[in-house]
Amino acid sequence: MSELPPLIVFGAGGHGAVVAELALACGRRVLGFADVDASRIGSRVLGLEVSWLQDDLLSMERWPEDAEVALGVGYNGPRARIDAGFAARVTAPLIHPRAYVSPSAELAPGVVVFALAAVQARARLGRGVIVNTGAVVEHDSEVRAHAHIAPNATLCGNVTVGERALVGAGASVPPGLVIGEDALVKAGSRWRNPR
Ligand SMILES: CC(C)(COP(=O)(O)OP(=O)(O)OC[C@H]1O[C@@H](n2cnc3c(N)ncnc32)[C@H](O)[C@@H]1OP(=O)(O)O)[C@@H](O)C(=O)NCCC(=O)NCCS
Repeated sequence: MSELPPLIVFGAGGHGAVVAELALACGRRVLGFADVDASRIGSRVLGLEVSWLQDDLLSMERWPEDAEVALGVGYNGPRARIDAGFAARVTAPLIHPRAYVSPSAELAPGVVVFALAAVQARARLGRGVIVNTGAVVEHDSEVRAHAHIAPNATLCGNVTVGERALVGAGASVPPGLVIGEDALVKAGSRWRNPR
């Protein structure tokens, strides 16, 4: 049994389901989900109950089993706001057992690295970053807080991705380029810096 505290996954949608299974694959116990949508309370996702309204947890002093927060919302702005509201409880990085993360990479709290992804030497991932299924973050790249590298996207070496940016599914970013904060790289595209 893991000695780490159990988790409450914030966000009971599709991304939250993947984060919950990631947590279980990492050997963490998941108590259930929290959501902002009151109509989801009492429903089940993967057999786990949606038990809490997010705002109720904000004002609750003692949490069940002193649980930690797993960020299970895919939208970057809302995920950043949850992270800001619950910062002290946000859990350490969750790395799927079938992902590769270099020992020299630095990962902040709230990072999730999904199955078949790779994070290479000296890469730096800020708080709440998503490295989605099969995505690649090559050496010396920096992905700033709450950005999302979508499934099968590739950042070559020395790329910088700004806060809350989305690098769309299957997109590729050539070496050394810089993507601004809140930017969107279209799915399947090859990024060029504006001239
Ligand atoms: C670029 C993007 C934001 C456009 O979304 P949208 O504004 O809803 O655009 P639409 O789907 O209405 O498409 C508008 C036009 O752009 C084209 N288009 C849309 N996405 C495109 C893409 N990624 N590459 C090339 N062309 C694209 C469409 O074919 C359409 O062309 P048309 O007008 O000739 O028919 C979206 O397609 C995208 O790439 N999002 C990223 C999704 C993603 O990877 N999410 C991660 C989930 S884990």
